[in-house]
Formats: sequence, C-alpha cells, structure tokens
Amino acid sequence: MTTLLKRVKTLPAGFVWGGATAAYQVEGATQIAGKGKTMWDDYLKKQGRFAPDPASDFYHLYPEDIELAKLYGLNAIRLSIAWTRIFPRGAGKPNQAGVAYYHRLFKCCLANGLTPYVSLHHFDSPQALFETGDWLNRNNIDKFVAYADFCFKEFSEVKNWFTINELISLAFSQYIQGNFPPNHRFDVTGAIQAQHNELLAHARVVNLFKSKGYSGRIGLIHVLQPIYPYPDNAANRHAAALEDAFMNRFLLDGTFKGAYTAETMALINEILTANHAKLTIEPGDMEILKQAATQNDYFGLNYYQPTFVAAYQGESTNVFNGTGEKGTSAFKFKGVAMHVKNPTVPTTDWDWNIYPKGLYDVLKRVTTEYPNSHTIYITENGLGQKEQTAGVGQLLSDDKRIDFIDQHVAALLKARTEGVNVQGYFVWSLQDQFSWANGYNKRYGLFYVDFATQAREIKKSALWFKALGATLKPNA
Ligand code: BG6
Repeated sequence: MTTLLKRVKTLPAGFVWGGATAAYQVEGATQIAGKGKTMWDDYLKKQGRFAPDPASDFYHLYPEDIELAKLYGLNAIRLSIAWTRIFPRGAGKPNQAGVAYYHRLFKCCLANGLTPYVSLHHFDSPQALFETGDWLNRNNIDKFVAYADFCFKEFSEVKNWFTINELISLAFSQYIQGNFPPNHRFDVTGAIQAQHNELLAHARVVNLFKSKGYSGRIGLIHVLQPIYPYPDNAANRHAAALEDAFMNRFLLDGTFKGAYTAETMALINEILTANHAKLTIEPGDMEILKQAATQNDYFGLNYYQPTFVAAYQGESTNVFNGTGEKGTSAFKFKGVAMHVKNPTVPTTDWDWNIYPKGLYDVLKRVTTEYPNSHTIYITENGLGQKEQTAGVGQLLSDDKRIDFIDQHVAALLKARTEGVNVQGYFVWSLQDQFSWANGYNKRYGLFYVDFATQAREIKKSALWFKALGATLKPNA
C-alpha cells in the first residue's frame, strides 16, 4: 500500500482528512419528501442539457458512501444542508421530513467516525427567494439568518459549520460569466453587490451564532485564485491587482478585516467606473462586518487554480468551457484584465491551470495579510476529468488525480512547516457528482459513480487516500 505514496509520506497528527460533497450535487431526490425547488430545478429543465436527478443518489445511498469513506481512511466529510429540504420556500414552517433526513445523515457520519463539516448554503438558493432577487434582495438575508438559527438549534450534533460556500463563484457565475441562473453577463453592479450582500449574510449569521452561544465552530468558505501577471510587466501587474481585488481581496477584507481598505476600494472603484457600475453599502453594514471579522473560528479555503492575466481595455467577452474541449475558453473583462495562457503551466481539458504552488502562495498570503483567518482547512481541491468505468471489480487508474492531490498536499504541508496553521484537507470530491455547469462528464471523485445504475467503483486515488490516512495516529 505504501508504495502508492510518492511525495507526501505522512500526515501530521490530528490532521483532518476528508472528502467533500454538496447537497444538490450528490443527493438527487429533488422532488421528494416535501423538498422545495432551488433556483436550479426549473432552469436545468428549461436548458435541457442535464438533470439534477438522480445525481449520485446520496439521498438514499449515503450509508454506502459513508461506509466507503470510512473504509478508505477518511475521518471527516463536507456536506451541505439543502435549505429547501428544511424550508421548501426559504422561510415559513420547517419540513419535518427534511429535518429528519439530516439527523439520520449526521448520525450515520458520526457513527462511522466521520466528523461532519456542514455548509448552510452551497449555490442552492430556494427558487422562491431567487425569484425575489436572491442575494440582491436584502430581505432574503433575514430569511437566511432565520434558517441558520433553526439549523443551529436543531442540529446540535453538528459542531463545525460554514455559512456560505464560495461567495465569489456564485456572484461571478451568476452576474459575470452568466453560466449560473439568472445568467447575466458582465453585470458588474450585480456581481459586486451580491458579494457584499453575501458577506453581510455570513457576518449576521456569525454574530448570531456567537451571541446566542451555540456550541461548535463557525466560518465561511472562499475559493482563492491567485492572479499572476503574464508576462510580468507594470501594466499586467496592475491588471492582476484589479482582478485580484474583484475575485479575492474584496471578500477577504470584508471577512477578516470587517472593512474594505482604501487600497482595495481604489481598485474596485476603478473597475466600477470602467463598467458604469455601483456598489451600495447601507448604514450599519460595515459595523456588522466588523463585529464578525474577529469571531470566525476558522476559514475554509478552496483552491483549484490560479489565473494568468494581461491588461485589457476592450469590450468584455466570455466563452465558457463547459464541455471539456481543451482550449475553448476565453475571458476578457473590460477595464480589468484578459486571461492568458502561460505555456509553462499544464492545463486540464476544462482549461484549468494545474499549479500547486498557487496553493502555497494563497496560504502564505492569507496568513500574512489576514491573521484573523488563524485556522485554515482546505475545504476543496481536486482534479476534474473525463473517466470511464474500468469494469466491475476492476480498479480505475486515475494516476493523474493522485499526482494532482499529492502535489497540492505537499504544497500545503510546506506552507505548514513555515508556520501556516492549516489543519485539514478535503478532496473535491468524495464520489463523482453533478457539476453545475458541466453536468456529469467532469468527474472528481475518489469513487466512480455509474450514474445509470448508481454502482460505485474504487479509483486508485481512493487507495492512495487510504494509504496516507493510515499514517494518521489513531484518535488524533
Ligand atoms: C467549487 C464548488 O467551485 O468547485 C463545487 O464549490 C464545484 O460545487 C467545484 O463542483 C468544481 O467545479 P466544477 O465547475 O468543475 O464542478
């Protein structure tokens, strides 16, 4: 078994070694047991490219998936609660069937030695609230706070909470890239306002969690994507600073400083001016952020890839690679930057840069610039690729994935030896699952899912995961 291990040979004592999932991407069962619609149901039906059911049918098969996770050496699992299983229309009377489902699920995790790390929102806003403006409608923040309060009270068995997953991905995909509903393209006002409002929702929930004295830990999850100028020159460095402000820095400032610094706002305002956009901050908002900034117990950091950019002043255009045809993506953002290819960096079929040093860089950056983030977990990292069944009882050889994860875990351990307080790693993803804008052929799992039969197959990466998990001291 240990011959599988290449760079990383052991994990530090006490390390959290987990697999990640998200409710809508794994559960399926979107129409049963009183569940309400999310913003995806009608949209996906209308679009007709792929359906969210049965996904990996985790709603029914979770005992099997959790058993596999345990067998393959995991000690933690990332899950999210589907808001619409608890409150079908986002607010009102709780749906007891949904409540009972999550109690069963958490119980099963705990019984199998998997600590649940639970997000309240993973891209799946209730349709009823989406129709009123989603995060752009501040009344929906009140509904999110009430839903969070209900969950904290009800699910006292959960001790590790995340409010919202990847605030930027949601805002960017909904309002800039246009590949998440409501599919706006380069609506810069929408994107920046959604970021601010999501932060506000997070901060209000953190403040409530602490003021009510709920037990456990709370934080949020940001995906960080380092932006490097390419080639490195003054104009491209400025473009990189602009895109970084929009993708990373605005949210990091708001989360861990409780303020958007003057330097950050100068960059954001340059982007807003170039795009005739505006950000509205209401009286009292910054006090809420400030109060929450020192109360996060930890920080969930998702990392996939960096972006290489050059300066760009032309009109905005975007071509999204949602099919895995290499070299088909393009992105140019007026007054910000254009994405360019760095020929020294390999890419996936979805044009994602493979660059483990980027993880090291963001870990160092966060620790230096945002000391309030103090305890970090890598809550997602992984490789999406097309894969085919190896056949019943055969091992699916995903050596590229092993190499990818190995290099990234090595990067995080290097940062750790240099003082970065990173305490865990969750691979995206536990099993193959539904990908929002790519459907079912972009596979990330340690376990292969045959979406027609729902059979699970073992990938070699699961063996690698197990071998490394075995280096953890018992009861660590
Ligand atoms: C993260 C999300 O952005 O990346 C996941 O939290 C998502 O929900 C993952 O699936 C991988 O992205 P994609 O687009 O390849 O599925």
